[in-house]
Amino acid sequence: MKTYTLALIPGDGIGVDVTDATMEVLDVAAAKFGFALAPTTFPWSCEYYVETGKMMPEDGIEQLRPFDAIYLGAVGWPKTVPDSVSLHGLLLPIRKAFTQYANIRPHRLLPGVEGPLKAEGFDILCIRENTEGEYSGAGGRVHQGQDNEVATEVAIFTRKGVERILRFGFEQARARRKHLTSVTKSNAQKYSMVFWDEMTDKIAAEYPDVTVSHMHIDAMAAKMVMAPQDLDVIVASNLFGDILTDLGAAIQGGLGFAASANICPDPSVPSMFEPVHGSAPDIAGKNIANPIAAIWSGAMMLDHLGEKTAATAILSAIEAATAKGIGTRPGASSTDEITAAVKAALEA
Ligand code: NAI
Ligand code: MG
Repeated sequence: MKTYTLALIPGDGIGVDVTDATMEVLDVAAAKFGFALAPTTFPWSCEYYVETGKMMPEDGIEQLRPFDAIYLGAVGWPKTVPDSVSLHGLLLPIRKAFTQYANIRPHRLLPGVEGPLKAEGFDILCIRENTEGEYSGAGGRVHQGQDNEVATEVAIFTRKGVERILRFGFEQARARRKHLTSVTKSNAQKYSMVFWDEMTDKIAAEYPDVTVSHMHIDAMAAKMVMAPQDLDVIVASNLFGDILTDLGAAIQGGLGFAASANICPDPSVPSMFEPVHGSAPDIAGKNIANPIAAIWSGAMMLDHLGEKTAATAILSAIEAATAKGIGTRPGASSTDEITAAVKAALEA
C-alpha cells in the first residue's frame, strides 16, 4: 500500500482543532481509497516559543525536509508572542526553505453557503507568487526620525520567478476551464509590471489552448465583485495576490471556507497545506471553529500527492454537508458536528 509521510504542525488556538478534524477526514479517505497516511506531529507553536525561546528548533527545516507534505493548522498567539516573531519564526522560513513559490487558493461558493454578493456559480483559482515581488524585503530607511527621512521598499521581479509562476498558472488553467487572467498594473508600474506582461505573452505562446486576459489590479478588484463567474485562473504578484485572495475568501463566505496550498512542484521537497485563517483566539477552545477550510486544504494535499479520486471525494463530502446547511452559518454547528457530517458523507 502506498504510504505518505505527513509533517503535522497544528500550531496554536483553533489550528489544533481544525488539524484534528482534517486528519479524521483524511484517515477515512485513506481507508476508503486504499492508501496510508503516516503523520508525525510537531509541537512548534507560540507555546513552544514560550518554553524554548524559538518557534521551531535550529534544525527544524531539516526535520521537515524528508516528509511528503507538511500540513499546518494556524500559528499565532499575540497575547504571549508578537505576530512578527511567530510568522517569521515558522511559516515564512518553511515557505522560503522549500521554495514554495505558488500560493494557490480556490474561491467558490459551496452549496448552502450564502456569500455577500448576489453572484453564484463562480469558481476561481487564485495563484499568488509566494517568494519575491513586493514582499522581497529589499529596501531600507535612512535619516530615521529626521525631516528628510526616506523609506524605500523595492519590488524584485526575477525572470526565473515570474516565468515559473506564470507557467504554473498556465498548467492549472489547462487542467481547468482554459482561461488565465494575468493581473498587473502595467499602466502605472512601467518596469516590473510591463516585464510581467511580456513574460505572460511569451509563455502564452506555449499554451495555445489557453485563452489569456490581462487586467489591472484595480479593475480586477471590481470584476471579482461584479462578475466573478467570468473568471477561471488568476495569476498575480505577491502583494496583488494577497489582496485578491482576501477578497476571494470574503465572496466565498468567509475564512471558514478559504483553503490554501503553498506549492513547490519539485517533489524532492515538501509542499505545505493550510487553511487561510489564523488561530482565532476569540473562539479558541469553544468547539465552534469551522473546519471546512482546513479539510479542503487537506483535500488539496491529497490531490498534490496524486490521490486525486480521494481529493475529489472529500470535496463532494464537504458539499454534501453544506448542502444540508451544516457548517454554513457561523456558530450554528460545532466543529465536531461539521467534521462528523463530512466523514459520514465520505463513508456513504
Ligand atoms: P484569524 O483568521 O485567526 O481570525 C479572524 C476572525 O475570523 C476571528 O473573528 C475568528 O474568530 C474568525 N475565524 C477565523 N477562522 C475561523 C474558522 N475556521 N471558523 C470560524 N471563525 C473563524 O485572524 P486574526 O484574529 O487576525 O489572527 C489571530 C492570530 O492568527 C494572530 O496571531 C495571527 O498572526 C495569526 N494568523 C496566522 C495565520 C497562519 O498561521 N497562516 C494566518 C492569519 C493569522
Ligand atoms: Mg493576507
